[in-house]
Amino acid sequence: MCGIIGIIRQSGNVTSDMVAALQRLEYRGYDSAGLSVLNADGQIERRRTSGKVSALLDLTTKHPLSGPVGIAHTRWATHGKPVEQNAHPHTSASVSVVHNGIIENYMALKQTLIAAGHRFDSETDSEVIVHLLEEALRQGHTPSQAMAWAVPQFHGAFAIVAVFAGDPHHLYAAVKGSPLVVGLGEGEGYLASDALAFAPYATRAIYLQDGDLAILSAGHVSITDDTGTPVTRPIVILPPSVAALDRGPYRHFMAKEMDEQPIVTASTLRSFWDPVHETVIMEDAPPRPRRVDIMACGTSYFAGMVGQTWLERAGIPTQVHIASEFRYRPYFADSDTLSLFISQSGETADTLAALKYVHGQGGRSLAIVNVAGSSLHRLAHHTLLTKAGPEIGVASTKAFTTQLMTLAALSLFWQGGGHAEETGELVSIPGHLRHVLNVTAPYHDLAHGIFRHAQSALFIGRGPSYAVALEGALKLKELSYIHAEALAAGELKHGSIALVDEHLPVVALAPTDALFEKTASNIEEIAARQGQLIILTDRQGAPRLQRFAHTLITLPETTPLSMPLIYTLPLQLLAYHVALARGTDIDQPRNLAKSVTVE
Ligand code: AGP
Repeated sequence: MCGIIGIIRQSGNVTSDMVAALQRLEYRGYDSAGLSVLNADGQIERRRTSGKVSALLDLTTKHPLSGPVGIAHTRWATHGKPVEQNAHPHTSASVSVVHNGIIENYMALKQTLIAAGHRFDSETDSEVIVHLLEEALRQGHTPSQAMAWAVPQFHGAFAIVAVFAGDPHHLYAAVKGSPLVVGLGEGEGYLASDALAFAPYATRAIYLQDGDLAILSAGHVSITDDTGTPVTRPIVILPPSVAALDRGPYRHFMAKEMDEQPIVTASTLRSFWDPVHETVIMEDAPPRPRRVDIMACGTSYFAGMVGQTWLERAGIPTQVHIASEFRYRPYFADSDTLSLFISQSGETADTLAALKYVHGQGGRSLAIVNVAGSSLHRLAHHTLLTKAGPEIGVASTKAFTTQLMTLAALSLFWQGGGHAEETGELVSIPGHLRHVLNVTAPYHDLAHGIFRHAQSALFIGRGPSYAVALEGALKLKELSYIHAEALAAGELKHGSIALVDEHLPVVALAPTDALFEKTASNIEEIAARQGQLIILTDRQGAPRLQRFAHTLITLPETTPLSMPLIYTLPLQLLAYHVALARGTDIDQPRNLAKSVTVE
């Protein structure tokens, strides 16, 4: 959950480009930041700071440093407080290192190194990398020999980039369980956690694989695998969209990405569309399975919960598992079951671990992923790519609705492509999303009203609306820091209704579906206890529920296929406006990172 960049050029100063690259990687973590360069004398110079990359920009402006090769890092703290002392790069006189991941055996290594006379300055696991490499140099190893000797001693997950004093022509990298991409420019080379970081400078990329050691010069890379055998990895040409990253007229990336949802859900559907027969076609999907297990985390897990309702409607028994739970439970692959992994980043450690667990038992996998070339994309047997484009806001919005569009399309594909009425529903979704996005006043009013000082909130729904309620609660939590909980509406009376009083906002999802009357009864139970109801329904449901509502939001009529996408947007808008009113950091909420690449 950290962002790494290394740049090597034949001349010039890489400092400002490294800082700019860190700003594109800041979604991966923003507790502290730092960089090292090899100066004209081939010596290591370093700057580090707590706080965001902007603080590093200030620091390197006040205290400039210069060199044609360097490494930089923006941190999401795993071991040690987010303070300068623990910021990367970690450095000795001879070597400087940035690291993403966790060295699980760092304490044992640290004790051995301390006994050998090494002095540690930080509380981090990462610092052992520097001292082990330093130890190798002391024993007369060259930098590449030092990497080959030290790296096999690390247990856990790591993406490491190192620069060695007196060796301005090389960057050194090692990968296991954390992403690292090589960028090849004209006479320059890049190493980054995400190709996003070097997109403006290089369009040729190589995704390193677990066990790889790489030595990068200004325009060439040599790679060896975990046996030390030289290997050639495929060169990928990056899509132009990766370079088109700015907020444009929007105040936040999240606002931009919410607004993009009509377009990107349409693009996603179009990528699975047979225009001749007007049905869904998915060349990369496996044939209809007898059973499906879905594994994912966070918002992607909630997408899986919605997908379960659609697959079950298609007659496919489906289970959904939180990936971090699934991977530690007994699992028995069988040829009838397809394992479906959902992830925006394709780098979520628990989801990847669940995939490897399934593969280890001979299971078949299908991934729904947004980042092309990501680990999940490369490892899964089959992949369906969502077309959300880069999602920079840490809180997932367009990635979620494009995951839903893909799952809805998949449920139709496995029924033969879907009949005209159903595929027509999918085609109508982008227009409905635009309609919902055009009305923001209710969310602004709620944010400055009942949510202004709210300490907690409830979200309720039934069936697929319960999964959407879970996503809505997560959005409110991660953006505004208000505690929120989602409940299956039928569960309310089994205890949680004790929470309801005149101060508690309760967001009720009440589309006029088969469960509407049941949900309406739950709404009345809440109203009878003065709960402050924010009711999402449609024109048909509004007359029945208006009198119970603090605020009633009328949405377009929906069907089981369209409801989850359409009812998600008001919850995104609510969370956004509440966060705006509370002044929290919308694109980079505290304690979070976009891609959870640690367990
Ligand atoms: C969503 O708003 C969160 N940022 C988070 O729950 C995210 O969905 C989760 O970490 C899974 O990430 P992935 O989709 O990249 O695997």
